[in-house]
Amino acid sequence: MKEYGHRPVLVEETLAYLQASRPGVYIDCTIGLGGHALEILRRNPGARIIGFDLDEQSLRAASERLAEYRDRVKLFQLDFRESLNFENLIPFPEVRGVLADLGISSFQLDNPGRGFSFNLEGPLDMRMDTRQKTTAEKILMTYPETRLAEIFKKYGELHHTRLLARKIVSERKLGLIKTTSDLKRLVEEVYRWTPQKHHLHPAAKVFQALRIEVNQELKDLDRFLENLARKCFPGARIVVISFHSLEDRLVKNAFRKLASGESGQPVVKILTRKPVRPTAEEVAANPRSHSARLRAAESI
Ligand SMILES: C[S@@+](CC[C@H](N)C(=O)[O-])C[C@H]1O[C@@H](n2cnc3c(N)ncnc32)[C@H](O)[C@@H]1O
Repeated sequence: MKEYGHRPVLVEETLAYLQASRPGVYIDCTIGLGGHALEILRRNPGARIIGFDLDEQSLRAASERLAEYRDRVKLFQLDFRESLNFENLIPFPEVRGVLADLGISSFQLDNPGRGFSFNLEGPLDMRMDTRQKTTAEKILMTYPETRLAEIFKKYGELHHTRLLARKIVSERKLGLIKTTSDLKRLVEEVYRWTPQKHHLHPAAKVFQALRIEVNQELKDLDRFLENLARKCFPGARIVVISFHSLEDRLVKNAFRKLASGESGQPVVKILTRKPVRPTAEEVAANPRSHSARLRAAESI
């Protein structure tokens, strides 16, 4: 079998919170390379998967990887936030669990042509869905300085974002920002980067902010969770894995609101008072898991 460069994170914890040994339908909002889905299918012969992803290449890889279970899998190239708009796509009475493992996969990050990594020379693309028109380059070339600064501050939680935005605007006029390496160099200059001074490369945050803006990653996530919780039947489990504090805060607040009955009757019970983090062993085996945080709730 082909080797896939993406290890699913928090697998045992995810399956436990989903109670994925129950027969029924599991919705994988972000199928990626199908790592979590494969474990569910392998361990539970009564499980069926409905999977979504925006990324055509990932879907193709997932479909190949899950081929052995193809009669129990349906995959769609769709933004999961829109999935609830499609009547009859999800058979809610049969749904036992919903998983959203947010962000991008190593498969995407490690492909230089996708432009997600500041360590790999490539185009400034960063689209999950390559049918979409807005790329990172378009944002860098066309957004006004103030808007760029806002994005870096809001989505990258960076300092000195006005300085960074000013430098981008002056360099773009000279045609100096074409690739991921150009942007990395610019960031290093602005933040006077040295490996001794910085624990984390500032480009990591700049790339994160751009990626969030390109894919509008935080948009409607809370609305989706609310609509989902209202449609799920009692006992269905919702598990969300996020990789940065902005996303995690959104999920935490959405679950709290739904559990408190702030807008009507409570519709979920929160199962994780604090986010579940990977063990030291998992982080050692898969360093990219270090920022993962899992939150789970049960529909009531
Ligand atoms: C962290 S990976 C998921 C990995 C997967 N759980 C596995 O085990 O292989 C996240 C995936 O979600 C996809 N994605 C992110 N936001 C999405 C959205 N709004 N709708 C659909 N897919 C999305 C990305 O393209 C990426 O493939």
